[in-house]
Amino acid sequence: MAFQNLHVVDHPLIKHKLSIMREKETGSKDFRQLLEEIAMLMCYEVTRDIPVVDVEIETPVSKMIAQKVDGKKMAIIPILRAGLGMVDGILTLVPVAKVGHIGLYRDPDTHLPVEYYCKLPFDIEDRYIIVCDPMLATGGSASDAITMLKGRGCKQIKLLCLVAAPEGVQKMLEDHPDVEVYTAALDEKLNDHKYIVPGLGDAGDRLFGTK
Ligand code: PRP
Ligand code: URA
Repeated sequence: MAFQNLHVVDHPLIKHKLSIMREKETGSKDFRQLLEEIAMLMCYEVTRDIPVVDVEIETPVSKMIAQKVDGKKMAIIPILRAGLGMVDGILTLVPVAKVGHIGLYRDPDTHLPVEYYCKLPFDIEDRYIIVCDPMLATGGSASDAITMLKGRGCKQIKLLCLVAAPEGVQKMLEDHPDVEVYTAALDEKLNDHKYIVPGLGDAGDRLFGTK
């Protein structure tokens, strides 16, 4: 299945780590560590086209004009709870990025997202934004979070997830065609409970050991 908004980040290390995360025997400690590591590896790809600025530096041999990333212009926005597990991996590569939080949970009956928290950097509209959430299932949570950000004036937004369902990618394409989606895997489908198949189960519960 080809989606023009989707980048499947294809790397043996990511595949290997994700396979361990999917296994039902994998406990919270390993799940947490692997999610952080994959987020760091995927951050390399999701930041591939961020702007660099020319700066004059001095090597031990001579002066030169070099390029640096203006990391102060970035913001990482995890969707609570499970998105929290990706923040430290991204911060490892972009330590000066600001972090905002959007709290959404899926209503267990309707499967629709319900907002319960939002705290964003004051200058969010000027920042290049990475929204992160490991699971893109129906796409309702990611789409609503991005609608909230656009309502605050944000223009440059990417979505970083771990496992996506075709239904979620399609919803992103319909609601936010300007937002590119990065995932480690595009799975087969959603089940009757709107869980990703084969997926990895409930990411928030596995990350925090709440079930
Ligand atoms: C999960 C996941 C996403 C959402 C994906 O969160 O982390 O935010 O479901 O589903 P969707 O694409 O159908 O909206 P959940 O609502 O379980 O909350 P949690 O992270 O607090 O466990
Ligand atoms: N949320 C999860 O944590 N997992 C899924 O498969 C779908 C939504």
